[in-house]
Amino acid sequence: MSVDRRTFLKAAAAAAAAPLLPGCASAPDASAGPVTLSAGVGRQALAEAQPPIDVWGYDAAVPGPVLRFRQGERARIVAKNALPEATTVHWHGVRVPNAMDGVPHLTQKPIAVGGEFVYEFDLPDAGTYWYHPHQAGYLQVARGLYGAFVVEERAPIEVDQDAVWVLSDWRINPDGTQREDWATFRDLTHGGRIGNVITVNGRKLGEGEGLSVRAGERVRLRLVNAATARIFVLSFAGHSPTVIAYDGQPVAPHAPEKGRIVLAPSERVDVLIDCMAAPGSRHPVVESFYARFSGNIGYLAYRDEAPLRKEPSRAPIALPANPVPEVNLAKAERHEIVFEGGAMGSLREGIVEGKKIPIRQMVQDYGLAWTVNAVAAIEEDHHHTPLLTLKRNGHYLLAMRNDTSWHHPIHLHGHAFRVVARDGKPTPHQEWRDTVLMNPNESVDIAFVADNPGDWMFHCHVLLHQAGGMMATVRVA
Ligand code: C2O
Ligand code: CU
Repeated sequence: MSVDRRTFLKAAAAAAAAPLLPGCASAPDASAGPVTLSAGVGRQALAEAQPPIDVWGYDAAVPGPVLRFRQGERARIVAKNALPEATTVHWHGVRVPNAMDGVPHLTQKPIAVGGEFVYEFDLPDAGTYWYHPHQAGYLQVARGLYGAFVVEERAPIEVDQDAVWVLSDWRINPDGTQREDWATFRDLTHGGRIGNVITVNGRKLGEGEGLSVRAGERVRLRLVNAATARIFVLSFAGHSPTVIAYDGQPVAPHAPEKGRIVLAPSERVDVLIDCMAAPGSRHPVVESFYARFSGNIGYLAYRDEAPLRKEPSRAPIALPANPVPEVNLAKAERHEIVFEGGAMGSLREGIVEGKKIPIRQMVQDYGLAWTVNAVAAIEEDHHHTPLLTLKRNGHYLLAMRNDTSWHHPIHLHGHAFRVVARDGKPTPHQEWRDTVLMNPNESVDIAFVADNPGDWMFHCHVLLHQAGGMMATVRVA
């Protein structure tokens, strides 16, 4: 038995013996400062009276701890690998230096079994972020490796409760075990691996369970979509949430269209909710994206306490802007990017390892079904020619076209970008984001200043689409 194998078994035994957090309506917080984060295997029940299932998690729980820091601080996180395979940690949305971005082979060597890697970086932006492996994400994230990463403003807005909901889903067999079908042909070529059980902070919430609130209070709820494929469209019955940030980046406070909050995989939305209903009442949080699975994912559960105030708080709610460089659209250089492939698409061939091959061969020989500007990238091989080479501090507009019948949340590492137009029409909020959802056959223009040097991933966050070729490298030199 190799040392690695023995270390793993010991870690696995320790993880199995550790009391796993039951998962609750607000995830546990790790204090700021030096942090260790251990990726390992364990068992966790997704609901009361359910048998525990095998999971992979950080610090023996799904989700991992909420890592909380303050804007301007330097994060130092020792990531340990007690998994049976190599991993990395990516700090999704945090504008880190390239060497800290956690992309195997591209920015670092994978963390070997039993090994560790020290991530250390400054935190220029406040906001809601998250962390997850960037190695075989379609499998490692699906098994439970993810957690929220919160950077508090230097002067936070005034709220009575600051809560985090990490949303995810699982594919569970009738006998309660998890289906280990991580990469089927159907999921690869369709909408990814969508589960049949939704959890909030690792827990399938029962009737009336959810976020405990007091009447009259103002809650800041940080929503994180950690699912590998599922899009959430949430509405809060009897309440009118106000959106104050997308992907950690402040936006002019506004009511979401039709009261529905859209969260594609990897996206975050910060909402403020003034809880003005009656003490003791319960109000469902309804998910409505997929007709087949829609339903309540949890509740706002009012405690039986006298209201904290009679009128909603009047404290200001606009968040101070982060120091993201403003992009000048007039001088931005334009690049066109076309996404193709998948079922019901028109893609006939793609470029794999420099050779043009028919889609049938892409799928059969390589498990690839998607392209970015005609190229299907192989995930383990991060040495492809960059899709784009951008000049440092240059201003860029990426005119992206989704030439597929599927939704794709497109994520750029190392930068925040403005979502400037959809199908040629300016967006109402011109929001900053790190991930933008492209609807089937939609065009989306994003713009940014390429101020962070390095080779950055640019990919779909439906993680099977990413593994299936929908990814590329953007070089800032
Ligand atoms: Cu959330 Cu490339 O990652
Ligand atoms: Cu996709």
